[in-house]
Amino acid sequence: MQTKKYPYHPPYNTEVGEAAGILRNGGLAVFPTETVYGLGADAFSAESVSKIFDAKGRPPDNPLIVHIDSPSMLEQAAADIPPLAYRLMECFSPGPLSIVLSKHPSIPEIVTGGLGTVAVRIPSHPVARALISASGVPLAAPSANRSGRPSPTSFGMACSEMDGRADIILDGGDCEVGIESTVVSLTDSSAVILRPGAITAEMIRNRLHIDVTGAAEPSDIPLSPGTKYAHYRPDAQVLLSARMNDGLLYGWMDRFAGKTIGILRLFPEIMSEDGGEIRIRLDEIHAREMMTGTRVIERAFYSFEEYARELYRAFAEFDRMGADVIIAEGVEETGLGRALADRLRKSSGGEWV
Ligand code: TXA
Ligand code: MG
Repeated sequence: MQTKKYPYHPPYNTEVGEAAGILRNGGLAVFPTETVYGLGADAFSAESVSKIFDAKGRPPDNPLIVHIDSPSMLEQAAADIPPLAYRLMECFSPGPLSIVLSKHPSIPEIVTGGLGTVAVRIPSHPVARALISASGVPLAAPSANRSGRPSPTSFGMACSEMDGRADIILDGGDCEVGIESTVVSLTDSSAVILRPGAITAEMIRNRLHIDVTGAAEPSDIPLSPGTKYAHYRPDAQVLLSARMNDGLLYGWMDRFAGKTIGILRLFPEIMSEDGGEIRIRLDEIHAREMMTGTRVIERAFYSFEEYARELYRAFAEFDRMGADVIIAEGVEETGLGRALADRLRKSSGGEWV
């Protein structure tokens, strides 16, 4: 398949128009959202949606999120919408939130993996919104990665995942959130978070004054079917670490002698100290690199937001640089930390260094 790739130049009219035409004719379009890039198809067309599963190599029981451009499109995708859904949307949409609702009969079962429910989201990225509006239909769109791999959060990553598999790839720059949307299911008066994301349990509780719980997992019938599969795995093996320090780093250099190690650190103290200290530390690392034949590549983050935003791009960068192992610092599971910890747990398979 020949894939058209468009560079980023607002206001994106011609490219969006062309991609909308492709979608209306049953094709696949990769588009940016504020979370990750999505691989979209007309959500009303079972035949078009089946191409998504082929392009990704995705298991058929893992349902897709349906993207709409406004609350007025909601009634085309969902039925029996409870008032709480509208209240949630008022607070957090457009944005990184997907709400699980009863499925509208016009959404084919292939979209929902045979479930009677459908996850619906209004993305905030202007290219995504413009594309949905121009297509005139809701778009079923999973993350635009091959199944099991990290979601693409840049145009370059989207191209390396989907070149030759989608009809068109739109560039919307680097994704601002960097991890996938929060997936929430509702009862009459409470919310259950099936997949944590940037809209946190705390945010929902504080704004809506309702009970918010996390999904009890693992179970035989996962509430959010996608959560049972291996996910977010780069080429390098990912390992989790407790709070890092240089003593640990030197130990890993011996343990992984001769290999390339990517390091993801959070709030590293040494890196924010003055230039002299940093030079002494780098000299020490270089000396040890010479001794062990190990190469160290480090990235440091100074907030949970930055860690989430850059996580998959760092994975891709480390893969490009030939990393054998990526050691990622674990995070405290509060607020956005819950989503980060979830992605780190899955990309590492729960393995600690
Ligand atoms: O941020 C995002 O959500 C991105 C962008 C492209 O919008 N999309 C995304 O889609 O991450 P995907 O397919 O990679 O993940 C969808 C998640 C899966 O865990 C799936 O099981 C869950 O949403 N899901 C979809 N429909 C569901 C439903 N009806 N009930 C429960 N979980 C559902
Ligand atoms: Mg995905």
